[in-house]
Amino acid sequence: MKAHWPRLRSFRLRIALGSTLTALAAIVLLYAMASYTIIHRRADIIDRMLSAHLAGPGFQATPLSLWPATDAQLNASFSGFAPAASGPETYALLLVEDAGSKPLYRSPAWQHWLGGAELPRGPGLHTVEGAGQSWRIGRTEHGSVTIWVAVNRSLSDAQVRASLTRFAAAIGVLAVAMGALAWYLAGRAMRPVEHLTGVMVGLTASELDQRVSAAEEDLEFAQMISVYNAMLERLQRSFLQSARFSGDAAHELRTPLTILQGELERSFARAGADPVLEESLANMLDEVRRLDSIVRKLLLLARADAGQLAIPPCPLDLRPTLDELAEDIGLLDAERPVRLNLPEQIAVRGDADLLRQVLQNLVSNAVKYGLPGGWIALSVRRQGEQWRIDVANASHGIAPEHRHRLFDRFYRADHAHQRRVDGVGLGLSLARDIAVAHGGSLALADAEPGQVRFRLSLPAA
Ligand SMILES: Nc1ncnc2c1ncn2[C@@H]1O[C@H](COP(=O)(O)OP(=O)(O)OP(=O)(O)O)[C@@H](O)[C@H]1O
Ligand SMILES: [Mg+2]
Repeated sequence: MKAHWPRLRSFRLRIALGSTLTALAAIVLLYAMASYTIIHRRADIIDRMLSAHLAGPGFQATPLSLWPATDAQLNASFSGFAPAASGPETYALLLVEDAGSKPLYRSPAWQHWLGGAELPRGPGLHTVEGAGQSWRIGRTEHGSVTIWVAVNRSLSDAQVRASLTRFAAAIGVLAVAMGALAWYLAGRAMRPVEHLTGVMVGLTASELDQRVSAAEEDLEFAQMISVYNAMLERLQRSFLQSARFSGDAAHELRTPLTILQGELERSFARAGADPVLEESLANMLDEVRRLDSIVRKLLLLARADAGQLAIPPCPLDLRPTLDELAEDIGLLDAERPVRLNLPEQIAVRGDADLLRQVLQNLVSNAVKYGLPGGWIALSVRRQGEQWRIDVANASHGIAPEHRHRLFDRFYRADHAHQRRVDGVGLGLSLARDIAVAHGGSLALADAEPGQVRFRLSLPAA
């Protein structure tokens, strides 16, 4: 079965880890090769030195009195193969015997190290264990004299081991340093991407004119950024085109509509005697007014899309507007209980007409989509620097599949169509754009079962 490794989601971490591990693998391989070479080369050098001593002229016809000096010199010549910290140790040992195997000279430490060991009789070099250490032993004959020289291999091995351990520790430190460097470099390499992401995140429809600067970036990223900028350019152009088109179309439609409305109103006033004509004109007038309201909303939406919904920072009080709207509900349907919970003053800054339009849509929605004869509640309270304006109504609730689409343009939940309630589905979308242009927000709030609540938040003045 295929093993499932957890996939590292961070690209930066993957690059850092990958490069560190690759470099580390190369170093460890080199280390292994170097260790192998050093250990074998060292054994080779010791053997060659030992053979050279045995073959050299030094041992020939040495008078008995000079053997101690020869022994000391031999010991000194192999002392370089011991760890630096080792004390006065025995590096090499010497044994000289006559033809009858009687020792003529023996290093003072010979008995301690090699007293019980079996000495090789044949030619060449041999490894012998003595007192827990490994000795390389060779032998030579000069006349009737046999000479053995033993070199301590264990000390040499300890010296090599100490050096290799130091190298291994250095590799550990190096690995951490390489990891940190790789992490830093990967982070630097990712910077243009992070920069680009930051710009993309900060980009809203009204800021499509933003461009990412490629001047400081590396070639590879500069190309990506210029492609992105070109894409943004096209997007902005087509966005502006479509916003301008709907804006222009709505604008051009308003004049004929106004004229049509005026004509109809005049005809209606003159039609007095003919009830059939009067009714027909009244219907037409209704439709024209409806059309005018749609065109006006589309014009505002187009302006909001183009970021041209300029909001003057005029101080205004929303309390009278809410009172009026509550009164309107009472006029339309005297049976409908209206619950008010409003502070003395609701001071905000912005465009009075636009904000009135928002509140009117919320209130008219509550009337249109609330339960027939059900209550409507308008409540306002201050939370920190914000006004929370809640418009709620008795309702069967809004089905979950509609909730997240209510603010889409021309979207109307099914029941609105079934009940043939007047409206086109632009009110909430426009209301939200207006709220956002005022630095606030509009959302469907959580509410207890049996009611629907929209919450408009606006910065307090
Ligand atoms: N208080 C409410 N209770 C239940 N459903 C609502 C409520 N307010 C809005 N809705 C639903 O959200 C939809 C969108 O509302 P929106 O105000 O955007 O459009 P509309 O009222 O249908 O038309 P208009 O453009 O004239 O306002 C409505 O069609 C309705 O289905
Ligand atoms: Mg509406």
